[in-house]
Amino acid sequence: MQTLGAITLACAALVAGQNARAGEIEVLHWWTSGGEAKAAAALKLTLQKSGHRWKDFAVAGGGGDSAMTVLKSRVVSGNAPSAAQIKGPSLQEWAQEGVLANMDDVAQAEKWDELLPKVVSDIMKYKGHYVAAPVNVHRVNWLWVNPAALKKANAKAPTTWDEFFTTAEALKKAGIIPLAHGGQNWQDFTTFESVALGVGGAEFYKKALVQLDPATISGPTMTKVLETFKKVKGYTDKNAPGRDWNLATAMVIKGEAAMQLMGDWAKGEFIAAGKTPGTDFLCVPAPGTAKAYTFNVDSFAMFKLKDPANIAAQKELAKEIMAPAFQETFNLYKGSIPVRLGMKMDKFDDCAKTSAKDFVDTAKSGSLVPSIAHGMAVPSAVEGAIKDSVSQFWNDDKMSVADAQGKLAAAAKTR
Ligand code: BGC
Repeated sequence: MQTLGAITLACAALVAGQNARAGEIEVLHWWTSGGEAKAAAALKLTLQKSGHRWKDFAVAGGGGDSAMTVLKSRVVSGNAPSAAQIKGPSLQEWAQEGVLANMDDVAQAEKWDELLPKVVSDIMKYKGHYVAAPVNVHRVNWLWVNPAALKKANAKAPTTWDEFFTTAEALKKAGIIPLAHGGQNWQDFTTFESVALGVGGAEFYKKALVQLDPATISGPTMTKVLETFKKVKGYTDKNAPGRDWNLATAMVIKGEAAMQLMGDWAKGEFIAAGKTPGTDFLCVPAPGTAKAYTFNVDSFAMFKLKDPANIAAQKELAKEIMAPAFQETFNLYKGSIPVRLGMKMDKFDDCAKTSAKDFVDTAKSGSLVPSIAHGMAVPSAVEGAIKDSVSQFWNDDKMSVADAQGKLAAAAKTR
């Protein structure tokens, strides 16, 4: 039997141990819509369960442009958050500045190299060292459909761009807004990249928008892409400029609009509104893109910290993010699929199951492509420039396709 003294000592050691471990981390993210907020709350709870404190640093604004602007000013003023939602090549850009922490110890202990698809682990590393933890895989090339609205117009869910325009025309005649759109740069480009993938195919997409090949950008396929893109605008409503993406999704949920081109964070909104996939709403690949996959991986970069307790909290967050329990709960809310390989998908719906299968299949066939709109493909300066040129064309009904193509080609040369 233990003596009272021994028990007291053991308790004190336990409390001291806990105190030594309890840290606080400030986490920058832009998950403020209905579905996003539920997913963010799951992350917060996961960290809190480990005894650490979460300081929320949410900056509203779909696609994260505002969050990235705020992040820059915080880092420049020497007040970086502990973790920030940063993605794709931007991770490399931040790591180059020397502000990101090395997460190799967590990654090695948790076997991230074995648990992550290589296309993802490569993005999480700078010069071979982990600087970020991935949470999910979003598919961007989706079309969200309200089947009741289609029924009213006696129209069917389109599988090609020609069918899209037939369906859109029928909806217009029936007095339903065919396509819910939010006129913000990143939403314009989310539409544009799905049109480019559907009209030109994965090889064209990679050459034009990932490798930024001048001849492909100036070629006839891009002309067709721009023409199709502009035609799509004719099926959006006049209140689209400036509209947030989740308000556009709400239009489809309510049946005011029939379709939306958006990544599967939109599914998070349908789910948060109590809707059931397959009956209340459909997820179909963006027209012409059934055999391709535009991926968007959310990840948290970890900034260098000094306080050992906060460093412990940061490592705990990185570890928990990749744990199976979190991967499941978070992604069920978020609309995405787990990034961790080998996860059971039985609790996920058919949209997620299709996404998981297509992710693997398209990786094999070579048609798994990074989303430009969501910061997965090109350096941030080029991304900003090509997004601006595409939005200018979308917004200016007097701009010719030839002018737009010239502007896009010039923007792609930004270094
Ligand atoms: C992010 C998603 C987010 C969406 C809308 C995307 O760039 O990857 O996590 O839900 O923007 O805010």
